[in-house]
Amino acid sequence: MKAAVLNAFGSPLAIETLPDPLLGTGEVIVDVVASRVLAYANEVLSGERKYLMELPMVPGPGAIGRVRTIGPDATRLRPGDWVYCDPTVRSRDDALSPDIALQGLTAGSEGGLHLQRYFHDGAWAEQMRVPTENAIPIGDIDEKDAARWCALGTLLVPHGGFLAAQFQAGEIALVNGATGSFGSAAVAVALGMGASCVVATGRNEQALADLTRRFGARVRTVPMRGQEADDRARILQAAPGPIDCVLDILPPAANAVQVRTAIMAVRPYGRVVLMGGVGGAGLDLPYSWMMRNCITLRGQWMYPPHAAILMTGLIRSGLINLDHFEVSAFGLDRANEAVAHAAANSGPFKMTVIQPR
Ligand SMILES: NC(=O)c1ccc[n+]([C@@H]2O[C@H](COP(=O)([O-])OP(=O)(O)OC[C@H]3O[C@@H](n4cnc5c(N)ncnc54)[C@H](OP(=O)(O)O)[C@@H]3O)[C@@H](O)[C@H]2O)c1
Repeated sequence: MKAAVLNAFGSPLAIETLPDPLLGTGEVIVDVVASRVLAYANEVLSGERKYLMELPMVPGPGAIGRVRTIGPDATRLRPGDWVYCDPTVRSRDDALSPDIALQGLTAGSEGGLHLQRYFHDGAWAEQMRVPTENAIPIGDIDEKDAARWCALGTLLVPHGGFLAAQFQAGEIALVNGATGSFGSAAVAVALGMGASCVVATGRNEQALADLTRRFGARVRTVPMRGQEADDRARILQAAPGPIDCVLDILPPAANAVQVRTAIMAVRPYGRVVLMGGVGGAGLDLPYSWMMRNCITLRGQWMYPPHAAILMTGLIRSGLINLDHFEVSAFGLDRANEAVAHAAANSGPFKMTVIQPR
């Protein structure tokens, strides 16, 4: 099969012919039809992000494709089924605290490296081998829509956060960092899950206005100006009632004060989910505020295995509309161009994909 191979950090992807993947027990081989290229894929492939990848490797986190071959443990999947290949590979020998590797992206941890050595290659290839449970049926789709269905990979991240927070229809959500690629998807997801209102924060006022244009009055935008007390006061003023759930998805360039600004806007007994990449100084949250207000604060990496099934339902019912996503597609031979394009054209509802076939 043809594949895009990363032989060394910083080198261009080489389009090579590799042996077809071999099926083992507990796995499925999928014919890849489309795979998303993250906006920061260039930083991963250059080594700048220091993601754990043992090279050479076929990159590519997640895909939409069709089942080619099933293993003996698959009871429902059939060859030809359309599936979302979830890159979130979990170890199967510790149900309480499994190691996680993101197939085709990063091992994440030492434990994840064990998984990565076996589920080594990602989706920028004509075929990929995934754990059976990671090939999630999405029902019949038109082949020409496969690229747009790659938006599952973006939507599922905030979906995982809202599921973790047990977000419920009728509640008010605050998305901190709503103008980014995952943040804007978080707004769409909260609305799709039945939010009565989503308060959306960011510095880019044009991107905030675009959210209002797309989603109407259920979204209230708040420009962030960098003054904690003032920013929080404007968040609270914009919200039509107490904020039930805060989802933070700010990138590494943001700082902890911007996160705390949003966290402390949550109502007493409210829930906060941290999903971004903010590093640097700690959050410095007042102990007594958290304790007296019974605040729930949790981190969330990716999403539970059943999330893709629920998200498929939200999409198929029209509660989440994939037409928001503007897709730029590249063949496998143009994988390097796709990576450069993704970096230069990131932003809300923009998606670059590689289509190996
Ligand atoms: N937990 C998970 O499972 C998971 C999965 C995937 C990604 N992530 C993380 O999610 C984060 C967001 O990813 P993304 O691709 O959506 O990021 P992004 O699009 O690059 O950035 C999100 C937004 O953050 C704001 N921003 C950028 N620089 C900033 C700065 N210096 N200070 C304050 N705000 C700044 C920008 O909006 P404004 O200019 O409008 O402020 C930008 O639109 C990343 O850290 C990523 O690693 C987490």
